[in-house]
Amino acid sequence: MIRAKRDGGRLSDEQIDWVVRAYTDGAVAEEQMAALAMAVLLRGMDAGETARWTLAMIESGERLDLSGGVGRPLVDKHSTGGVGDKITLPLAPLVAACGAAVPQLSGRGLGHTGGTLDKLEAIPGWRASLSEAEIRAQLAEVGAVVCATTPRLAPADRKLYALRDVTATVESIPLIASSIMSKKLAEGTDALVLDVKVGSGAFMKTPEQAGELARTMIDIGAAHGLRCAALITDMSVPLGRTAGNALEVAEAVEVLRGGGPADVVELTVRLAREMLALVGLDGAPDPAEVLASGAAYPVWRAMIAAQSGDPDAPLPTARHVEPVLADRSGVLVADAYAVGVAAWRLGAGRARKEDAVDPAAGVRLLVGPGEPVTAGQPLLELHTDRPDTLPAARAALDGAVTVADTAPGPRQLVLADVRT
Ligand code: URA
Repeated sequence: MIRAKRDGGRLSDEQIDWVVRAYTDGAVAEEQMAALAMAVLLRGMDAGETARWTLAMIESGERLDLSGGVGRPLVDKHSTGGVGDKITLPLAPLVAACGAAVPQLSGRGLGHTGGTLDKLEAIPGWRASLSEAEIRAQLAEVGAVVCATTPRLAPADRKLYALRDVTATVESIPLIASSIMSKKLAEGTDALVLDVKVGSGAFMKTPEQAGELARTMIDIGAAHGLRCAALITDMSVPLGRTAGNALEVAEAVEVLRGGGPADVVELTVRLAREMLALVGLDGAPDPAEVLASGAAYPVWRAMIAAQSGDPDAPLPTARHVEPVLADRSGVLVADAYAVGVAAWRLGAGRARKEDAVDPAAGVRLLVGPGEPVTAGQPLLELHTDRPDTLPAARAALDGAVTVADTAPGPRQLVLADVRT
């Protein structure tokens, strides 16, 4: 199979079923799967192979049945990952406040992109792991759950993702698409909206690649009877003003209380409208009005409390907060990747899976990208408990978060949509 794919051949359904099962069971060695993943990265897989690969990963574990007794349509959202992407935090309670139920089984951050569970774990007491019965009960009572995926859900993906991460085989469109869709299909949601990020802070660097990833995921969804839609959204600058776990939770709470940065509000509302439309609730209250009125905030509080979190507890704050000043007058330029790497170096992310994150670490922009600044004005703050990380964080920002003469044109946040 490795030789066939290396030479540009096609894998049969039987071959795919066998290799995914044998790898999960340990009969196919890590080095063999690494070679096959690299062959797939270089040669690709067609739509039929990709759909079958996805099915084999679902079949490696169990499917959840979350719908029983919930009494509302289930709709989930998945983002391909970015910098400052805290959208799930306001989005899940907002969509629940508008009448759907949101089961969002999430992951942790690796590298420069943050993970939703790491963000929520900044809230004192909050618990990521729930049983299937607890997820169902919370969906029925609160309407929104953000929790860890269970170990029984697509175990082949769990193993393969860790291998891809250390063998430079993450950025394969069929492998990313099958990885994401196997987990969402196994979760048993009725519908799924995909937020496919494009730009320096995303896995996909061009709109063409992002469009191809979106189309591949939607085709997998269609092949398995899942209603899907995708938005392609800009990740060349960070979303909102914060990157880092507790800082992002605080910003999400501002949005839930009717304030917050305009780009976070805009994307939350756009995704909420897509989610409600997919499950036939487009006649529901307008998410923009619900969010602005603060009516999603009580749902957030209930969602956090249901998972043992204290929504009123103060969030952790960093022992060291250091400003970065403008060296001249002009407009702020802030590259998403640089901000993500700086936050990660300050302690917001992890280098190895087993590392702990520092919940208080991160970057807060004091000025929005494209806004005017004067020499000496504080542009941003670096938050950390470990001052030895500050030089490396500053180095990451050097030349990438800076002051320019003129602003780039106005930012277009939602670049395209892709539908079945
Ligand atoms: N997220 C996933 O779950 N899988 C990938 O392969 C990439 C991003």
